[in-house]
Amino acid sequence: EKGGYDYFMLKEIAEQPKAVADTLLGRIDGSGSLTLDEVRIPTRVLREIDKVVIVACGTAFHAAMIAKYAIEHWTRVPCEVELASEFRYRDPILDAQTLVIAISQSGETMDTLMALRHAREQGSKVLAICNTNGSTIPRESDAVLYTHAGPEVAVASTKAFLTQLVACYLVALYLGQVRGTKWGDEIRAVIRDLSSIAGAVEQVLGTMEPVRELARTLAAKDTVLFLGRHVGYPVALEGALKLKELAYMHAEGFAAGELKHGPIALIEEDLPVVVVVPSPRGRSVLHDKIVSNIQEIRARGARTIVIAEEGDEAVVPYADHLIRIPATPTLLQPLVATVPLQVFACELATARGNEVDQPRNLAKSVTVE
Ligand code: M6R
Repeated sequence: EKGGYDYFMLKEIAEQPKAVADTLLGRIDGSGSLTLDEVRIPTRVLREIDKVVIVACGTAFHAAMIAKYAIEHWTRVPCEVELASEFRYRDPILDAQTLVIAISQSGETMDTLMALRHAREQGSKVLAICNTNGSTIPRESDAVLYTHAGPEVAVASTKAFLTQLVACYLVALYLGQVRGTKWGDEIRAVIRDLSSIAGAVEQVLGTMEPVRELARTLAAKDTVLFLGRHVGYPVALEGALKLKELAYMHAEGFAAGELKHGPIALIEEDLPVVVVVPSPRGRSVLHDKIVSNIQEIRARGARTIVIAEEGDEAVVPYADHLIRIPATPTLLQPLVATVPLQVFACELATARGNEVDQPRNLAKSVTVE
């Protein structure tokens, strides 16, 4: 049932192009508009929403962080993202104009369930983004947008994450479409780009051998740091989480702009630092800032592992290891940038002799608060 792979995780990583394509299937019509009939929240209600709040845990929380960038950019509706486990204990401000989105692969995560119950008690509408048909979270929500990743068996989430991102982009674009924003042309262009994104994920998967080789050389390390900016920041957090749960290594993700506010003190000779570089097109200011960060940490001895778009030559002089990803629109980059980090963590876990699909102390669905 592992389809010839040694681990479910490897199989699930390989299934990502299909999972992404399946999650888009039937949701973009021939004219390039979105048809999310399943979102049974009336468009009238969606037009009146004045705030979006997303609750989730773990990897799903990282998808939520990325969703915030997309929702605020494409809809101009303020969006907050909160760990589900923190949410209801701080008396959050919610009302009928708040759209709460609960993201969960399993649909059974107790922290997320309790957060959505709290939101509904305050009169907010809840939209679930979920991978498991008929599970508790969608049953208790006002509407659900299913991700079509298929069953995810490995404890470490991979294909569910990519499909959660796709679902988040769809919701953000749909909200933009329903509400009408000044980004109409951009929204149409992104919908087109989304339609070809599965191919980009496939392309990344075809170039992962050097990442595996690199991971094997780092098996004896104690710490790996991850840096990113903008949507690359949650990607850095996700890379660090994968490494913690699979390789049992100390791993931390930082927003690269925070380096100078503390974390740069951690940099020492030969410390592996993975840097997710934003596209040099689009938000080029961020790109240039991160290139300076790479220079700074390398000057202090870090071993730089740089994930950068094809054709980005500015990073070449400062990259000890360079991992290329295809060019994508800025907001969609996490769909391709996360893949090498999954492969990296899986290979490191294997090299360290760890159980890849069933990491110690973890369960696939966390049904206690
Ligand atoms: O089923 P859920 O998406 O609600 O699960 C949330 C987290 O428990 C989950 O993403 C966890 O962090 C994964 N093991 C990460 O790989």
